Amino acid sequence: MTARLAVGLAFVAAVAAQTTRSVWDGVYTAEQAKRGLTLYGKECASCHGSDLTGGESAPPLTGAGFLSNWTGQTVGDLFERTRQSMPQNNPGKLSRAQNADVLAYLLSMNGFPEGKAELDKVTEVLKQIRIDEKK
Ligand code: HEC
Repeated sequence: MTARLAVGLAFVAAVAAQTTRSVWDGVYTAEQAKRGLTLYGKECASCHGSDLTGGESAPPLTGAGFLSNWTGQTVGDLFERTRQSMPQNNPGKLSRAQNADVLAYLLSMNGFPEGKAELDKVTEVLKQIRIDEKK
């Protein structure tokens, strides 16, 4: 009985740790990306540029360099990175929901398709979404 429970839990943990979707599967909505655009303009553009191509010291958030940094990682990793260290002059300023909105905008600007459901704000859920530069 106990052993069976342990096996069951191990199975659940293994499934939870797996990426089940990728950024190509339509993981955010157009509406969410639009909210993200507004936030990006207020909180990120001063350093990363209004077109996301980077600034004097801040790196670009679009393009081949950015995507190759993140390919193989998950949207959850990018979410945590942003949530914990950005905006660099005031880390942690944005709520989880706001970070998800900004991330939706970043995904849209990197050419990933929109979908029918919003990007979640729970890290564990976002860790199931793989970042792949190419489809
Ligand atoms: C005060 C300037 C500043 C602001 C504002 C700012 N950033 Fe940054 N950001 C940086 C700098 C500098 C780096 C590189 C050094 C570092 O990682 O801390 C960076 C790095 C990043 C990275 C990692 C890029 C990579 O290639 O791995 C991401 C993602 C990011 N920022 C997202 C954001 C988002 C989203 C916002 C708005 C919520 C934001 N930043 C606001 C300065 C800024």
